[in-house]
Amino acid sequence: MSYRHVPVMVKEVLDYLNCSPDKTYVDATIGGGGHANAILQAIGPDGYLVGVDQDPDAVAHAREFLRPFEPRVRIFHDNFTNLPQILSRLHIPRVDGILLDLGLSLYQLEGSGRGFSFLRDEPLDMRMNPEKGKTAEMLVNGLSEQELAGIIKQYGDEPWAPRIARGIVMARRHERIRSSLRLAEIVRNAIPARHRPRRIHPATRTFQALRIAVNNELETLERFLGEAADLLNPKGRLCILSFHSLEDRIVKERFRALARGCICPPGLPVCVCGKKPLIRILTKKPARPDSVEINENPMARSARLRAAERI
Ligand SMILES: C[S@@+](CC[C@H](N)C(=O)[O-])C[C@H]1O[C@@H](n2cnc3c(N)ncnc32)[C@H](O)[C@@H]1O
Repeated sequence: MSYRHVPVMVKEVLDYLNCSPDKTYVDATIGGGGHANAILQAIGPDGYLVGVDQDPDAVAHAREFLRPFEPRVRIFHDNFTNLPQILSRLHIPRVDGILLDLGLSLYQLEGSGRGFSFLRDEPLDMRMNPEKGKTAEMLVNGLSEQELAGIIKQYGDEPWAPRIARGIVMARRHERIRSSLRLAEIVRNAIPARHRPRRIHPATRTFQALRIAVNNELETLERFLGEAADLLNPKGRLCILSFHSLEDRIVKERFRALARGCICPPGLPVCVCGKKPLIRILTKKPARPDSVEINENPMARSARLRAAERI
């Protein structure tokens, strides 16, 4: 399948990034280049964009798709936690806006052949960067029952996590679990029929949990947010699109901490930590896509956009 992805909340992203000509922006999850294309158009003729993605297929596609904008765009195959090093190599001390569009691209879900979807019979890989880290197959066949239950509960918020973990361990005693469809079948069978969710596939939460674990998604986001404010010029913007409540909670809490600055325990008569607020939060509540966009692009359904400005 050729690369496919429909960018989410493009107008809102451009507004919150405050895209204006001649400035420098980062799309740290460039994917198919949909948002990047809109940003590059908004910041022409001299604005510059640095793109990053850990998926080599995304990078190859985005380089091709955004070629008409060269030399105003540079794209790196890397994890966004390495953004400080990437910018320093480019001799860019600070930028005017950074976008993170978390979650999966349509290509990863439907065309990558890496087992992200419970509807397809593919090898259980689930790595966004297939050159690094453990696959979902390794986790599913290698972790203990308790470890699996913990991951499925914590990252999938799955009430049947212990039964699913038990089902996985029983099944792998007979034969190694290698494919996404086989795992989906095991998960479905582990949930009693009358308790299977009706609005989503019974394996949805387990697949989300494994994907988060395989790609270290929450730790990576925490690490990035710890450094992002230092990469922004005064009035520079940080925009984050998240697609599930675990990510959104991390963004909300980290934004609040950066906006508060002071980390002294409550009750002290004067501040002793000396930390100053670094950002101003622009979205009291996360912005959501409207119903027209959700109808046209069901993947936008769970999107939440939070934005902040560097002080
Ligand atoms: C939803 S897609 C982005 C789509 C993109 N905004 C567009 O318009 O086409 C998310 C992308 O983020 C990438 N990604 C996720 N976590 C990453 C990380 N820690 N570092 C770099 N890229 C990451 C994924 O590989 C995927 O291509």
